Amino acid sequence: MKNAIIGVVGSGVMGGGIAQMFAENGFQTMVWDTKEEFAVKGVANIRKRLDKSVEKGKLSTSDAEEIKGRIKIVKDLNDLASADLVVEAVIEDIETKRAIFNRLEKVLRPLAVLGTNTSSLSVTELAQNLSNPGRFLGIHFFNPPTKLELVELITPHALNPEALERAKDILSACGKTTVTVKDSPGFIVNRLLLPFINEAAKLVDEGVASPEEIDKAMCLGALHPAGPLQVADLIGLDVCRHILETLSRSLGSQMYKPAKSIVDLVDAGKLGRKSGQGFHSYPKG
Ligand SMILES: NC(=O)c1ccc[n+]([C@@H]2O[C@H](COP(=O)([O-])OP(=O)(O)OC[C@H]3O[C@@H](n4cnc5c(N)ncnc54)[C@H](O)[C@@H]3O)[C@@H](O)[C@H]2O)c1
Repeated sequence: MKNAIIGVVGSGVMGGGIAQMFAENGFQTMVWDTKEEFAVKGVANIRKRLDKSVEKGKLSTSDAEEIKGRIKIVKDLNDLASADLVVEAVIEDIETKRAIFNRLEKVLRPLAVLGTNTSSLSVTELAQNLSNPGRFLGIHFFNPPTKLELVELITPHALNPEALERAKDILSACGKTTVTVKDSPGFIVNRLLLPFINEAAKLVDEGVASPEEIDKAMCLGALHPAGPLQVADLIGLDVCRHILETLSRSLGSQMYKPAKSIVDLVDAGKLGRKSGQGFHSYPKG
């Protein structure tokens, strides 16, 4: 199984983490991004994280170098032709993702599996124009993919059971636990998590308590390992807003309408950890 070749499309927060996770688990991993400089930056971030693990004594220098050696930037999507599994993790935009799948379908081998890491788009709709929808599924990782064990596998009707098994085998070789979910807004985790985050943000809007107090309350009073607004900052407030808007539209409920504080922070470019400021501050370093 470890001789399977992985392709990762997109090298942002999730694409970079997904590529790192596969390489850490022994898989040769190719990374493509819309501009080569983005892929270079994404892979540089992976290398920095690995160097930090070496500094902290969590990883040996030789292991870190081996992991780095398994990650290769490819300039052209055609270079992913040898991949057995490709995971797409570009921006949450249906047309951008469809255009990439359209190009990938022309280069991938017939048995290669194609997965999308979408958080909120319909996997069935994403598959609509594919000529080989049997090999297409949602492979939904959680942030950071190197640490979180769960992967949701979203299974549209057209999915071929052998393709699902191939994806499961590769993920299991990475130590991941998978749950299989029908294509439905928010799948399992986001359907339950985002209304919770949104309610926490509404408490901020209403001046009921500060983000610090809300997070402290849920950690100490409900035994959550991290508070809802810390989790929102980690996911990215732009991503949270997008998922909430999709849930609101597809489930037809005002309950999911993004809280004002989420909308205002995103409009101000305060996207959470990745921008250094969200509900909380994240000073550099
Ligand atoms: N952030 C999370 O916690 C999380 C968790 C699970 C799934 N996801 C999903 O993963 C995907 C990526 O999210 P992210 O948080 O890594 O976002 P990000 O903003 O960190 O990265 C986006 C990536 O898309 C690329 N990109 C931007 N414009 C593009 C274009 N026009 N064409 C092709 N590529 C383009 C960027 O170069 C970058 O590599 C999204 O579908 C998101 O919903 C995110």
